[in-house]
Amino acid sequence: MAFKSRFVCQECGHQSFRWLGRCPGCGAWNTLVEEGEHIEARIARSQGESVQIHTLAEVTWKDTAGLPTGISELDRVLGGGIVPASLVLLGGDPGIGKSTLLLQAAGKVSRSGQRVLYASGEESLPQIKKRAARLKIDTPDLYLVFETEISRLVRSIVDCAPFLVVIDSIQTVFDGELGSAPGSVAQVRECTAQLMRLAKTKGMSIFIVGHVTKEGFLAGPRLLEHIVDTVLYLEGERHQSFRILRAIKNRFGSTNEIGVFEMTGDGLGEVHNPSALFLRQHMSGALPGSVVVPTLEGTRPLLVEIQALVSPTAFGTPRRMTAGVDYNRMVLITAVLEKRAGCVLSSFDAYVNAVGGVRIVEPAADLGIALALASSLRDRPVDPALVVAGEIGLTGEIRPVTGVRKRVSEAAQLGFLRCLLPSADAARLGDDGAGLEIIGADTLPEAIEKVLQE
Ligand code: TYD
Ligand code: MG
Repeated sequence: MAFKSRFVCQECGHQSFRWLGRCPGCGAWNTLVEEGEHIEARIARSQGESVQIHTLAEVTWKDTAGLPTGISELDRVLGGGIVPASLVLLGGDPGIGKSTLLLQAAGKVSRSGQRVLYASGEESLPQIKKRAARLKIDTPDLYLVFETEISRLVRSIVDCAPFLVVIDSIQTVFDGELGSAPGSVAQVRECTAQLMRLAKTKGMSIFIVGHVTKEGFLAGPRLLEHIVDTVLYLEGERHQSFRILRAIKNRFGSTNEIGVFEMTGDGLGEVHNPSALFLRQHMSGALPGSVVVPTLEGTRPLLVEIQALVSPTAFGTPRRMTAGVDYNRMVLITAVLEKRAGCVLSSFDAYVNAVGGVRIVEPAADLGIALALASSLRDRPVDPALVVAGEIGLTGEIRPVTGVRKRVSEAAQLGFLRCLLPSADAARLGDDGAGLEIIGADTLPEAIEKVLQE
C-alpha cells in the first residue's frame, strides 16, 4: 500500500503534505524536502505478530537430495530428482508433450511407492486414463482429480497428502474470489502463489504446467519465473520428434543441463546420446550451404542450423532474402565476403534461412551466416560435426562473442565434435572445450580456408 509522503522544511522543521516552494513556517525558499512516512507510524500501523528471527548458527539445514523419478533425462535437469517442498514450472508450446512427460514421471514416482496426485483442468479423467494406457502406466494408486477452482483444489491436495502433485495446467486454475478470468495475469499469479505456500508448508513437491502462448508470455510461464523454485522448458518442433528439456532457473541444481527426448508412439523416450538423433538429422542434410550455430537466446544456448542458397541472378539486381536472420546484417556480411574474402556475390541471388522458425538476432551468428553463404557459393559442404560462432567486423576480422563456455558445452552435449571460434575466445577457453576440438580463426578468409572441405 502506498503511504502518503511528507515534506519537511530543513530550516525550521515545518511539515507539509505537499511540496511548496516557500516554507510557510520560516519563509525560506526551496527548503522543503520529501520524506517517507515516519517509521514509528508504520510500525504502529502494522498488525499481527512479530516474526521469529534466527541467527545463522541456529538455522539447520539438511541436504535434501531429490527423489529420482527414474527418467534420468528429467532427473538430470531437475538436479538429481524431485525435491520435497518445491514448486516446479514446466513451460512449453501447447502439444509439445508436457502432459505426456509429467504423466510418465507421475507413473514412475507412484510405482516407486510415493503417493502422487495428478490434477487436470484440461483433460477429463477418462482421457487421462486413455493416455496412461498408451504410456503403459498401470500403477493402481496414481490419484487423479479434475478440478480448476483453487480452494477446492488445495482442499483435495491436502486431503490426499501426496508426495508429488501435478497441476495441468496453471492456466485453467482460478480463484473464485478474483474477478478475472482463468488464465489472466492476476489469476495465474495468485493461484501459483497459493500453490507455493502449499508446497512449502506441507512439504509437497508440486509441478505446474504452463502453456506458452503465441502472443508471448503475458499470462504464461514468464510471469511465474520469479515465484517458483525451478523453471523447465520443453522445446522442439511439433513436426519433428525430438524434444529438449532445459532448466532456465533451478534453486536446487545447475541450469546448464539439458534433457533430450524423442516423442514416440508410446510416450517420450529418453535419448541418452543426442548426437545420434540430432546429427543424424543434420548429417543427412550436410549439403553445401548448411552451418550449425550455437546461439544464446538470453542466457539459454540453442543450436540452430543456418542454411544459405546462392544462385546466379537471372537478370537485373541480385535478390537478397532472409528468414529468421536479420536482413541488413546479411547484406552487410555479403559485402564483407565480397570485399575481404574474395567471395563475389554481386551476380548471385542469396537466400539465408534459420531452420525451424527461430529468429536469431545476435551478431555471434555472423560467422555462421558468412560460412553458409561461402559454402553455397563454392558448392562445398561444411563439416556437419562443426559449430561456429563469431561476430564479423567490416574489415573481415572475427570478433569475440559472449558466453562461449555455454555455447561450447551445449554443442558438446548435442554430440558435435568441433567448434570454430574467434581466436581470442579459443585461447581463453584453453583446454576447457567440453571435449570439443576448438579451432580459432582471426579473419573471415582464414575461417573459410579452415572449414570449407574439398
Ligand atoms: P501433450 O503431452 O498432450 O502436450 P501438452 O501437454 O504439452 O500440450 O502431447 C500431445 C502430443 O503428443 C500429441 O500431438 C500427441 C503426441 N503423443 C505422441 O506422439 N505419443 C504419445 O505417446 C502421446 C501420449 C502423445
Ligand atoms: Mg497438456
